[in-house]
Amino acid sequence: MALLSQELNDYIVGQTRFDDPIVLEMEERAARDGFPIIGPAVGPWLYFFTRLLKASHVFEMGSGFGYSTWFFARGIKDNGGGTVTHTVWDEGLSRDARGYLERSGLADQCDFQVSESVLALSGAASGIDIIFCDIDKEMYPNALDVVESKLKPGGLFICDNLLWDGKVMAATAEGDEATAGVKEITRMLRESPRWDFLLTPLRDGVGFARFNG
Ligand SMILES: C[S@@+](CC[C@H](N)C(=O)[O-])C[C@H]1O[C@@H](n2cnc3c(N)ncnc32)[C@H](O)[C@@H]1O
Repeated sequence: MALLSQELNDYIVGQTRFDDPIVLEMEERAARDGFPIIGPAVGPWLYFFTRLLKASHVFEMGSGFGYSTWFFARGIKDNGGGTVTHTVWDEGLSRDARGYLERSGLADQCDFQVSESVLALSGAASGIDIIFCDIDKEMYPNALDVVESKLKPGGLFICDNLLWDGKVMAATAEGDEATAGVKEITRMLRESPRWDFLLTPLRDGVGFARFNG
């Protein structure tokens, strides 16, 4: 379900300055293989918030072949250094991500972990500036406890696909675990005093939540 016309989307995307050849190569791969990346409408937001918060430690859950990672790594490098932790359970995707980030000169800003992402986060040091969540949607609600134990107060949680192609508007998500997961984490972020939550109509719905501690 496209929220913007193709023309308007192209205009907005055209105003960003990330026409890096490796980024374009990853976008072409995603289009060719039908691999779900955040895409050029969202990537620059990851860079923007990394810069705005002067983030030096970012943790990504469900990193795929490293497209979203690229924008965090670029921001961290421009901030003067730090690490984005790339986590995915597929060894081949992790290897591909390392290749793209190495060719971009950003691998020094990346820590690649082949793992289930919630498990990897539970083993990470706390005090993280930004946590980005893009894992299987039915796993979203159970990830939030771990996110709260690792994000620093004032830190940012970014969660993708919170519109889930419009399916969240259904009165009930019975029998559809992914939609139920998206609806439930949205409710948790909205209702908990620990979060200031903003749901944006970016692409498939990106949630931004400030952790109050
Ligand atoms: C939506 S894609 C991520 C794309 C990436 N964030 C981007 O925009 O470039 C999610 C990836 O994470 C993997 N994944 C899903 N759930 C996961 C989990 N719980 N732990 C580790 N990897 C997971 C999927 O197999 C897939 O490769």
